[in-house]
Amino acid sequence: MFQLIGHRGVRGHAPENTLRGFKQAFDMGCVGVEFDVRRCKTGELVVIHDETVDRTTNGSGKVEMLSLAELQSFDAGGGAIIPTLDAVIEAASPKGILFIELKETGIGEEVGHKVQHAIDEGADASTLVVISFLPETLKEVRSVNDAIHIGLNSEGLSVQEVSDVLEEVRMQHLNPYMKDVDGEFVALAQKHNQTIGTWTVNDANDFKYVYDLGLDFIFTDYPDRLIG
Ligand code: G3P
Ligand code: MG
Repeated sequence: MFQLIGHRGVRGHAPENTLRGFKQAFDMGCVGVEFDVRRCKTGELVVIHDETVDRTTNGSGKVEMLSLAELQSFDAGGGAIIPTLDAVIEAASPKGILFIELKETGIGEEVGHKVQHAIDEGADASTLVVISFLPETLKEVRSVNDAIHIGLNSEGLSVQEVSDVLEEVRMQHLNPYMKDVDGEFVALAQKHNQTIGTWTVNDANDFKYVYDLGLDFIFTDYPDRLIG
């Protein structure tokens, strides 16, 4: 049976990648949330999808060129702010599973240490999964230790190409895009004793397809459309 993961919090119902969205995802029955991480100008890790703040806030500019204070002066929707990774782990980790997507290289080691700290504080390692499209970034995380759960986001990669990445870096999770995922990806995950999920499933047809594949996790913007 699959478990529902709120995508960017619960993007269909609340401003994406905000604490409000993470709370709402759990309130709506998700067992976990997915969100995106970047580094800002003053060095903090912040939770935002795009390279710039333009689409999701009333500000403008590149995240890497803005300080944390500047970023948090912007309205990310209904008065919400762009949260730090620390704030999201603190607020959301006690409630369920976090899929922490790293959008950049050079941040994996620091994220790995933060995840390890949360595990040391009592979180189960399987509830903090660091994912990325970037194998190099996942290697950075893996360099921290062998226990942290990591997973590859893939879009447009064949099963063989994903399999090749797995030769280089050990992972506990696979996350192929919904248009790519099929029985061969499921078999690959089983072979490596990995969980498997896909994104972003928002309508009945896509849901039926991925449901029949028997995935572990389905990422959605609209949990209400898929529950019941
Ligand atoms: O991590 C799964 C999914 O979020 C990847 O795509 O663009 O929504 O970050 P994107
Ligand atoms: Mg994402």
